Amino acid sequence: MNSFVNIIVLVFLSLFATLDQACNQIDQETLLSLNFSASNPPLNWSFSTDCCFWEGIKCDSKARVTHLWLPYRGLSGSIYPFIGNLTHLCHLNLSHNHLSGPLAINSFSLVIHLETLDLSYNSFSGQFLSSFFQLAENLITLNVSHNMFSGSIPSFTSWNNKSLSSLKILDFSYNDFSGQLPPGLGNCSKLQTFRAGFNYLSGSIPDDISAATSLQEISLPGNQLSGAISDGVGNLTSLSMLDLQSNKFSGLIPQDIGKLTNLKSLQLHTNSLSGFLPQSLMNCTNLITLNLRINNFRGDLSAYNFSTLHNLHTIDLGNNNFTGSFPLTLTSCKALIAIRLSRNKIVGQISPEILALESLSYLSITNNNFSNITGAIRILMGCKNLRMLLLCKNFFHEAIPDENQRAISSYAFQNLLVLGIGDCEIKGQIPTWLARLKKLQVLDLGSNQITGSIPGWLGNMPNLFYIDLPYNSISGEFPKEFCGLRALALQEVKNRADGSQLQLPLFVPKTKIALYNQQYNKLFSLPPAIYLRNNSLNGSIPIEIGNLKFLHVLDLSLNNFSGEIPDQISQLTNLEGLDLSENNLHGEIPLSIIDLHFLSSFSVANNDLQGQIPSGGQFLTFPSSSFEGNPRLCGDIVQRQSSCYFIHPTTDELASPNESSNNELRNGIIAGVVFGFIIGSVSGMLYPLHRLKLWQTLCAWIERKGQ
Ligand SMILES: *[C@@H]1O[C@H](CO)[C@@H](O)[C@H](O)[C@H]1NC(C)=O
Ligand SMILES: *[C@@H]1O[C@H](CO)[C@@H](O)[C@H](O)[C@H]1NC(C)=O
Ligand SMILES: *[C@@H]1O[C@H](CO)[C@@H](O)[C@H](O)[C@H]1NC(C)=O
Ligand SMILES: *[C@@H]1O[C@H](CO)[C@@H](O)[C@H](O)[C@H]1NC(C)=O
Ligand SMILES: *[C@@H]1O[C@H](CO)[C@@H](O)[C@H](O)[C@H]1NC(C)=O
Ligand SMILES: *[C@@H]1O[C@H](CO)[C@@H](O)[C@H](O)[C@H]1NC(C)=O
Ligand SMILES: *[C@@H]1O[C@H](CO)[C@@H](O)[C@H](O)[C@H]1NC(C)=O
Ligand SMILES: *[C@@H]1O[C@H](CO)[C@@H](O)[C@H](O)[C@H]1NC(C)=O
Ligand SMILES: *[C@@H]1O[C@H](CO)[C@@H](O)[C@H](O)[C@H]1NC(C)=O
Ligand SMILES: *[C@@H]1O[C@H](CO)[C@@H](O)[C@H](O)[C@H]1NC(C)=O
Ligand SMILES: *[C@@H]1O[C@H](CO)[C@@H](O)[C@H](O)[C@H]1NC(C)=O
Ligand SMILES: *[C@@H]1O[C@H](CO)[C@@H](O)[C@H](O)[C@H]1NC(C)=O
Repeated sequence: MNSFVNIIVLVFLSLFATLDQACNQIDQETLLSLNFSASNPPLNWSFSTDCCFWEGIKCDSKARVTHLWLPYRGLSGSIYPFIGNLTHLCHLNLSHNHLSGPLAINSFSLVIHLETLDLSYNSFSGQFLSSFFQLAENLITLNVSHNMFSGSIPSFTSWNNKSLSSLKILDFSYNDFSGQLPPGLGNCSKLQTFRAGFNYLSGSIPDDISAATSLQEISLPGNQLSGAISDGVGNLTSLSMLDLQSNKFSGLIPQDIGKLTNLKSLQLHTNSLSGFLPQSLMNCTNLITLNLRINNFRGDLSAYNFSTLHNLHTIDLGNNNFTGSFPLTLTSCKALIAIRLSRNKIVGQISPEILALESLSYLSITNNNFSNITGAIRILMGCKNLRMLLLCKNFFHEAIPDENQRAISSYAFQNLLVLGIGDCEIKGQIPTWLARLKKLQVLDLGSNQITGSIPGWLGNMPNLFYIDLPYNSISGEFPKEFCGLRALALQEVKNRADGSQLQLPLFVPKTKIALYNQQYNKLFSLPPAIYLRNNSLNGSIPIEIGNLKFLHVLDLSLNNFSGEIPDQISQLTNLEGLDLSENNLHGEIPLSIIDLHFLSSFSVANNDLQGQIPSGGQFLTFPSSSFEGNPRLCGDIVQRQSSCYFIHPTTDELASPNESSNNELRNGIIAGVVFGFIIGSVSGMLYPLHRLKLWQTLCAWIERKGQ
């Protein structure tokens, strides 16, 4: 009985299954003609199965394909034009693949039903045809970001009227679009997100954008957009993010910005905006991020009342023309994590009210006119969560506080990772309280008037990996303890380093070794370095230097170091920059130094080195200026400047370092070295090696004189 029922059910079920419509034949053929080949595992698309059950495919009740959804599938090649035959497709998501070529679609009939088109993160190129947008009447989401589309963004006036009223998301960012932003956005009554950042767009933002009142995000960074930000922005009361950074906008921040009470992020940095900040800005009480750096804003900062910005996490007013003193009303913004006021004209002192900012983690007041460094340090030591403190270019000619250890609580600066007090011309010695900052990773005391020696305890700081002490009057030797710096000697420490994003980037100005100003968004990316240029250090470079295996830059230039360059320097296998110029080093450049495969900047100029310049490896890339001022150095690189035998320009005599040099040499000839013989350039005579000291023979050219 029971089995009978079962059989009935089975028969019924199989009948039902065969009645069920199979995938539409046209759709099936079209899909197969697309010839998609995915990376592992391959797509299970095959003639013998119903295409509605293929990976990435969904069908409607009439078995027409509605979804083609294959993100992150390693698809490559181009899209075959026949994709246009999928006339019922609503959702096309091919994001994060390697597809390329233009969108050459045979017919745009598919477009009519299309609601979602996500082609982001591919390599599509070519222009976007406006006929596409004329037909697309149901489009809600269009994301073509991170491709190589070019040409202009099609004018919205040519878009299908119906779709303009349904569009919610438009993302054109990270392409090669150029020309102006098209007008007609104002008719996109439901548009919430508009992104077109990092293209080559120019011109101003069309005024009618202010009619698109559903907009929550306008994100157009990294273009060449110009003109003023229109007052109409005040109509966009749903706006929560306005990102216009890195463009050429000018003029004032409009007064109506204060109407944007939902605004959370206002990023206007790196433009040419000017004038005073509108008081109404303080009505944007939901602001979390306010970034106005690198503009031309001015005004007395202490005259603004920031206390309404309860939610503010990050404020960057750096690189402007603000005056006045530190705005104390900021200390009412209890959520503040990062404050950057660098490069303005702010004066006065840091006051104890700042301690109210318990979450403060990043404070930069670099390049202003603050005074009383003793007070500033004493107060800021109490900021429990402070990780980055940048005070450079202030406090001119004051004395660096070196308080009695006992006066300083052991909780002082307990979380500090970066301390910058460079370029202040401050006097005094490297302060002993630094020894307590166990988490310190980066120390900048460069360009001051620091005297005394490098304290050995600096080498015991467990996390220190970037030490910037150049342009001071530090004397004494390079302490051996310094070669025990754990973060530079043991990789584990580096691995432990925090890879998280900084709240605001760290700007490191160019040095002789780093040729460009650098911007670091992670502390982790800062190359481990010791900069000691231009001090009065003496003695020899300790052989223990070889322990600092994770060092990337070593700059000992412009000191009085003597002795030889230790062989162990070749153990610094991560070294990218090595500057030993302007010292009193003698002896030879260790040949093993060519094993430093990452070395891209090197100088031993103006020492008293001699012998062969190592050749090969990176040494083929350094200019002769890296070696100049060492008359006894020789090698192909210095062929024109110097050699073993230096011919004095006026006396016409060889100013040989070795007075025993023989007459044959004195009288001329030598042209070069080939396999151990010097070949006379005129006579062609060969001089056997044994007649010359090794370092002399290996030298490159010496010109024949007196012809
Ligand atoms: C697509 O449709 C066109 C006609 O519109 C037809 O000629 C072509 O064969 C179709 N291609 C596929 C793969 O079905
Ligand atoms: C599909 O791709 C294969 C190799 O990937 C190629 O041999 C074949 O010609 C392609 N088919 C079409 C219709 O382009
Ligand atoms: C193809 O793969 C998908 C998932 O990867 C699976 O859900 C589907 O059942 C498979 N279809 C066939 C016909 O094997
Ligand atoms: C496309 O797929 C990716 C990966 O699943 C997803 O993150 C993205 O949101 C999808 N696109 C759209 C518009 O839904
Ligand atoms: C567009 O796609 C990219 C990558 O898939 C994604 O990061 C971005 O958030 C998407 N844009 C919108 C507005 O969702
Ligand atoms: C949009 O609608 C207007 C009239 O409402 C019409 O004049 C115009 O041609 C339409 N535009 C498109 C692209 O269909
Ligand atoms: C919206 O479209 C209509 C008709 O197509 C047009 O008259 C109107 O000027 C448009 N509005 C905006 C703000 O672009
Ligand atoms: C802003 O909105 C008001 C009323 O909602 C309207 O009168 C005004 O024209 C709009 N401004 C712009 C620039 O669109
Ligand atoms: C800020 O908002 C308040 C009330 O919401 C209003 O009275 C005041 O005028 C606004 N201030 C500015 C400068 O717009
Ligand atoms: C700033 O504004 C708040 C009210 O929002 C007020 O209580 C405070 O006194 C003002 N501070 C200054 C310095 O004007
Ligand atoms: C900064 O403001 C001063 C006057 O306060 C002005 O003289 C100077 O030109 C301004 N600098 C810039 C770069 O705008
Ligand atoms: C420096 O600041 C400290 C702490 O705020 C204060 O006690 C001291 O009086 C200040 N010194 C000067 C010269 O203003």
